[in-house]
Amino acid sequence: MSTVAKVPRTTAKAVLTEFDVEKIRRDFPILQQSVHGKPLVYLDNAATTQKPLAVIEAIEHYYRHDNSNIHRGVHALSERATEHYEKTRTAVQRFLNAADSKEIIFTRGTTEAINLVAQTYGRKHVGAGDEVLITAMEHHSNIVPWQILCEDKGAKLRVAPISDRGELQLEEFEKLLGARTRFVAVSHLSNALGTINPLREMIRMAHARNIPVLVDGAQAAPRMTVDVQSLDCDFYAISGHKMYAPTGIGVLYGKAALLEAMPPYQGGGDMIASVTFEKTIYNRLPYKFEAGTPNIADTIALGAAIEYLERLGLDRIERHEHDLLAYSTKAVEKIPGLTIVGTAKRKAGVLSFTMDNIHPHDIGTILDREGIAVRTGHHCAQPVMQRFGIPATVRASFGLYNMRQDVDALVKGIHKVNEVLG
Ligand SMILES: Cc1ncc(COP(=O)(O)O)c(C=O)c1O
Repeated sequence: MSTVAKVPRTTAKAVLTEFDVEKIRRDFPILQQSVHGKPLVYLDNAATTQKPLAVIEAIEHYYRHDNSNIHRGVHALSERATEHYEKTRTAVQRFLNAADSKEIIFTRGTTEAINLVAQTYGRKHVGAGDEVLITAMEHHSNIVPWQILCEDKGAKLRVAPISDRGELQLEEFEKLLGARTRFVAVSHLSNALGTINPLREMIRMAHARNIPVLVDGAQAAPRMTVDVQSLDCDFYAISGHKMYAPTGIGVLYGKAALLEAMPPYQGGGDMIASVTFEKTIYNRLPYKFEAGTPNIADTIALGAAIEYLERLGLDRIERHEHDLLAYSTKAVEKIPGLTIVGTAKRKAGVLSFTMDNIHPHDIGTILDREGIAVRTGHHCAQPVMQRFGIPATVRASFGLYNMRQDVDALVKGIHKVNEVLG
């Protein structure tokens, strides 16, 4: 176990004392609209979240006042842009409780963060006959990069099974940690089932055998306090757009010692200390992994999103979404012909379901006519669908601005589906 360094968890001047959803909703202009003549009920937050004014204004401010390339300039605009860009790195460090800001690498999102690890750490440490262990509830972006690596290296992808409730079978997971296991990659919170994995135990089991662990935190980061030092994970990947920040910006957290030893991911400007035709010396962390001009505006806006989340308080967001999940679960359980997919004891944010003899796409289309946005399909988790023997589900996923009234609208919409198609 590494020691847990004390990093102040928030710089927010005043953490709000009450969770006033009506007031919070006024921060999200997109929510104030009608769809097909009905007030928008946005329940597709696991796909992407809406953006508060603070984030929209951070982008506008950057392009109106500070737009410039970073790190290399000596002029005022470049210095300001660099300062704001690097300020986000410190905000992410605080948000994830990383020991050092050099452990925060900006990427395009979770997908790129995982590919980065597979193509650098993975290529260096996984060889023929070795194994990479994932779980049966992973998003495609935490399956395919490992498949590509395994195919390339002649290694084997092993998959820890899940129960009928959608919970990881921990004993099976442990049994699959063998002498040839070189890496473990697992989600913190399943986007298709809502399951929260027992990460601490999983990481402890892997570390007992000296196997590093990457955590796909795409769905957890906006929903619960994440502490990478206390989890003791080796890598943690997140996507800005799922946590109220723009698309095209995400983060890879990695323990400094591992990142230092990894080869670079992409070559180009900024990731070098010096270049000659004979030899290139790579830049220090974190820049070694940030080749080329980055997504400056959206990185700065990610900083604004983090400050916004800190002001609301992740623990209160978690409680609020938990209330919505409990309230909605109780309400839909009573609907005849409806089956909830994913009934883990530890769950957050996601309510996936099917209805007898009605295709999820038809449900989604009727709900859309009622102004309700849900996702239907396999949610980029086709093996989860195969595990449950279904082609798709309807997924309602909550965000910090959802209210019990949104759940009431969903339930009413589902009754309408039953009337029309049931
Ligand atoms: C659990 C999980 N992992 C990874 C991803 C991929 O995230 P992105 O598309 O932002 O890279 C998603 C997106 O839905 C997800 O839900």
